[in-house]
Amino acid sequence: MATPIFNASCSFSSSKVIDCKSYAGLRSPASKVRIASLPIAAIHRRSLVVRASESNGQAKKLGRSDAECEAAVVAGKAPEAPPVPPKPAAPAGTPISQPLNLNRRPRRNRASPFARAAFQETNISPANFVYPLFIHEGEEDTPIGAMPGCYRLGWRHGLVEEVAKARAVGVNSIVLFPKVPEALKNPTGDEAYNDNGLVPRTIRLLKDKYPDLVIYTDVALDPYSSDGHDGIVREDGVIMNDETVHQLCKQAVSQARAGADVVSPSDMMDGRVGAIRAALDAEGFQNVSIMSYTAKYASSFYGPFREALDSNPRFGDKKTLCGYNKFWYLLHKSYQMNPANYREALIEAREDEAEGADILLVKPGLPYLDIIRLLRDKSSLPIAAYQVSGEYSMIKAGGVLKMIDEEKVMMESLMCLRRAGADIILTYFALQAATCLCGEKR
Ligand code: PBG
Repeated sequence: MATPIFNASCSFSSSKVIDCKSYAGLRSPASKVRIASLPIAAIHRRSLVVRASESNGQAKKLGRSDAECEAAVVAGKAPEAPPVPPKPAAPAGTPISQPLNLNRRPRRNRASPFARAAFQETNISPANFVYPLFIHEGEEDTPIGAMPGCYRLGWRHGLVEEVAKARAVGVNSIVLFPKVPEALKNPTGDEAYNDNGLVPRTIRLLKDKYPDLVIYTDVALDPYSSDGHDGIVREDGVIMNDETVHQLCKQAVSQARAGADVVSPSDMMDGRVGAIRAALDAEGFQNVSIMSYTAKYASSFYGPFREALDSNPRFGDKKTLCGYNKFWYLLHKSYQMNPANYREALIEAREDEAEGADILLVKPGLPYLDIIRLLRDKSSLPIAAYQVSGEYSMIKAGGVLKMIDEEKVMMESLMCLRRAGADIILTYFALQAATCLCGEKR
């Protein structure tokens, strides 16, 4: 089959810095077969090549000397060439036609596995992945129904083991999403900046176990908000921008204090990147990066994630709802972008860049490849793509139902995100895909 296979040989020591150098590309499973079926003469010729190292610098005598061979050719006695291979037969009924007069036949550059590998434009490696992990206060790992293969991991055990597995296949970057106990949620999401809360505690534990692990955090109030929104919801349904940014700054600083390497505001409030940068710098965290969710769309592809964290937006009781507008605004998390919009992503990107973002993120991934390409072309900053829960679950479901080949579709979708211009990809497939890239069996 001509379907791409991604392969790489990696060997990692899980305790060391991980760097998947051999990254991999498309390798046709046909390549081995082709080598085996090279014309006999070609194989024979190869086997006569003698390396200097094997012969201790001395010519190995196989027959006539070089001088004798040259003399024979000069005398017109060239050695016999291997026979011309017969022309492959076309099936009966193939029309007889004149060759088209084409200057360019692009198929030449993709005709063999060797050409395909040589001219491959995009590669993918475990170093490109950021692994999103769900954590909770419990001791057990609880499966997430809508995301087969994903768990709410116990922060002390399950999480630490999952991180070890990821590092063993070259994935050394993670992003944490907490499930916060209901009793700790309130309308202003204050638990978000509790230095002893689940996320800061977990960061400290991970940094203690794996000092070189790269930890990304999510900056938004939704896991901590009793309204399930990324910001503070006013009585009339408006998400209060500047007051929310105040909270986000405290959240980001608390995460940085715990040891986070990259804080990632996913809330889509205006001006939060600049405010967070200033807050981090004021506290001495000049080296903590900001990955901004630059273009985060109000997408239905987030459904399974909201189930995972139990963070579906709530709207208060009917009395506080003042009509259709508020309901619509909150229901669709309309502080996030309209999926119909393209140019607006550029406005967001320019702002984030000017405010000091280090990485620009597009979310979701596959349905928004045009936005990834847009930002790639218009900005010099690294671009991240988030292959979100709905994208993951669809591929998993298609695989379980045997409608698609899960592994191949997974690898193709990730490669396509890279091709569109993503440097890094946040994906729930990180461990599975890296395992596949490293050529290990799951
Ligand atoms: C919210 C947040 C969301 C995701 C990441 N951070 C969901 C939302 O906006 O409700 C979604 C990720 C996914 O679907 O995989 N701060």
